[in-house]
Amino acid sequence: MTGSASGIGEATARRLAADGMTVAVHSRSSAAAGTALARDLGGTYYQADLADDEAAAGLVPRVLADHGRLDVLVNNAGISWPVPHADLAALPAADWRRLLDVNLIAPWLLCTAAVPALREAGGCIVNVTSHAGVRPKGSSIAYAASKAALNHMTKLLAAALGPDVRVNAVAPGLVDTPLTADWTAAQQLWATASPMRRAAQPSDVADLISALIHNGYVTGEVVLLDGGLNLR
Ligand SMILES: NC(=O)c1ccc[n+]([C@@H]2O[C@H](COP(=O)([O-])OP(=O)(O)OC[C@H]3O[C@@H](n4cnc5c(N)ncnc54)[C@H](OP(=O)(O)O)[C@@H]3O)[C@@H](O)[C@H]2O)c1
Repeated sequence: MTGSASGIGEATARRLAADGMTVAVHSRSSAAAGTALARDLGGTYYQADLADDEAAAGLVPRVLADHGRLDVLVNNAGISWPVPHADLAALPAADWRRLLDVNLIAPWLLCTAAVPALREAGGCIVNVTSHAGVRPKGSSIAYAASKAALNHMTKLLAAALGPDVRVNAVAPGLVDTPLTADWTAAQQLWATASPMRRAAQPSDVADLISALIHNGYVTGEVVLLDGGLNLR
């Protein structure tokens, strides 16, 4: 479970542990929080910067060395910061590469490393994407494009890896996490314009990830979790 020291990842790690799984907790830099969570859950903590190809490719082998098997890969770690869509100059190539490295290439490297073990276990992959990868919106054009690509990769992998490995994505709208703590305009939008009149809680996303893991038939789906905002 990548990026599981806070936010959606932490809630999902807690939920999957409550479901009876042994969870490999991971983060980039918040090692103290990750270690404490892993201890709480009876799992193991791994630190790796997924912007680094070698570190990303090496994460699954580290988990396999400790635990001997892998049933589920949740690609949750991601980065995002607001850039006005009309301000093209504010999104230079280096920022595109940073976003694509963490949000798209790292999940690919993790899937590549995990698939042999997942095939053996009859396991599955869940990618945490975004409604910004489904509709033309989001914190920046590069972020939205990275998540749209991850949504498409989800479907392509599901077609390629079935029936051995199922691959799905959850595409949240706004979720109350440290990442979005000061996104007041988005918070206002969800509170007033979405049918559910609130942002999601991390546990809402965790519940959906758990459901996708436990359903043995659904594959290739990108499930929007936006409180209905995109109906309007
Ligand atoms: N919150 C929302 O409204 C929302 C909406 C749609 C989609 N999402 C997606 O949901 C996922 C989780 O978001 P969140 O809101 O829960 O964010 P968060 O609380 O900021 O957590 C992000 C996690 O990803 C890890 N991470 C970030 N960059 C990394 C890197 N280079 N290498 C390894 N790990 C890295 C972080 O580790 P450190 O703490 O050590 O940096 C942290 O554990 C992301 O993919 C995000 O795009 C969030």
